[in-house]
Amino acid sequence: MVKVKRFVVVKHFQNDPKPSDLQLVEEELPDLQNGEFLVQAEYLSVDPYMRVYTQRYPIGITMIGSQVAKIIESKNTEFPVGERIIGYLGWRTHSIINPYSSEYDFLELKPKLLPDIKDLPPSLHLGILGITGNSAYFGLLDICKPKQGEVLVVSGAGGAVGSHVGQIGKILGLTVIGITDSDEKCKWLVEELGFDYAIDYKNEDVELRQTELTAILIMYSSLALVGGEISTIVIYQMKNYGRIAACGSIASYNADLSSLPKSTILQPQFVFNRLKMEGFLISDWYDRWHESVQKNLQWIHEGKLLYRETITKGFENMFDAFVGMLQGKNIGKALVQA
Ligand SMILES: NC(=O)c1ccc[n+]([C@@H]2O[C@H](COP(=O)([O-])OP(=O)(O)OC[C@H]3O[C@@H](n4cnc5c(N)ncnc54)[C@H](OP(=O)(O)O)[C@@H]3O)[C@@H](O)[C@H]2O)c1
Repeated sequence: MVKVKRFVVVKHFQNDPKPSDLQLVEEELPDLQNGEFLVQAEYLSVDPYMRVYTQRYPIGITMIGSQVAKIIESKNTEFPVGERIIGYLGWRTHSIINPYSSEYDFLELKPKLLPDIKDLPPSLHLGILGITGNSAYFGLLDICKPKQGEVLVVSGAGGAVGSHVGQIGKILGLTVIGITDSDEKCKWLVEELGFDYAIDYKNEDVELRQTELTAILIMYSSLALVGGEISTIVIYQMKNYGRIAACGSIASYNADLSSLPKSTILQPQFVFNRLKMEGFLISDWYDRWHESVQKNLQWIHEGKLLYRETITKGFENMFDAFVGMLQGKNIGKALVQA
């Protein structure tokens, strides 16, 4: 009999998530039926969307999230023991999966076998070769439609999507400015990832630095990851026909929805500089998933795209990893190794 540990949502998050909002339970799993297979979680993702989307589900659900897991027992020849899968299985150590079950019908990404990426770690399927990597790729290419010589400003630059977007910007010949929250992350962005400039918004004046930099800029093509007043400051320095891909607004995820932070009016800047802003959800590109994964894989192999993971060890530490990510403690992709 296999024992599973899972985190159950016992209270909806209010402002900062608290350890008592989740409960770690241990249960026995039943025997496998024909067509089913059993997986054991190897890597679990902690992502900002979990803070927002958990509120949409009833109390008592397994905390939501995706994981890379290994098949350890199988009664389904299409899913043999030893293979890896990716799935939205939630925060749980073991799962019995019937891939034909209607349980997964509401998910656009059903549990699926992962390709072998040889010497690269399988955790990359949760980051640079998964949702965050695809958000970076499609958000920049399809929404910002960058042209060589333009300037790209990336906020949340020290995180998974942001550090990736800036590197694609450099591959495309853009001048890249990253906005992040520490000197350590600024150094990483410039010295290792090749960003042209990085601004530590907690210790530097974003407006002053931008103004100083705009003297050499033609146009901004900005990816607004963080939202809030920092994005507003950048938008007010954008040139004619600048484009903004609105990927997220993490600065407000822990805020009370009835009293969201106010920021400066944007319409005058949009009108007089003919700016465009478009929000997106990565699910809009599920039909082109393969294209982005292949391109990112190619750039990794060519040494043009570097990745960094902040891995917390131990399934029991999921909550700490999640809250740490929401506080910006991660550099690159935040993950848990079960
Ligand atoms: N639209 C989509 O389909 C889609 C898909 C994936 C992600 N997203 C969004 O993209 C953003 C980044 O996601 P990610 O997966 O790459 O997470 P992440 O960036 O790896 O982790 C969160 C990052 O957000 C920044 N941050 C956290 N709290 C902040 C605050 N209060 N104020 C300012 N910055 C804060 C920190 O960046 P620094 O270290 O640079 O300060 C931190 O590293 C999130 O808003 C997420 O919701 C959207």
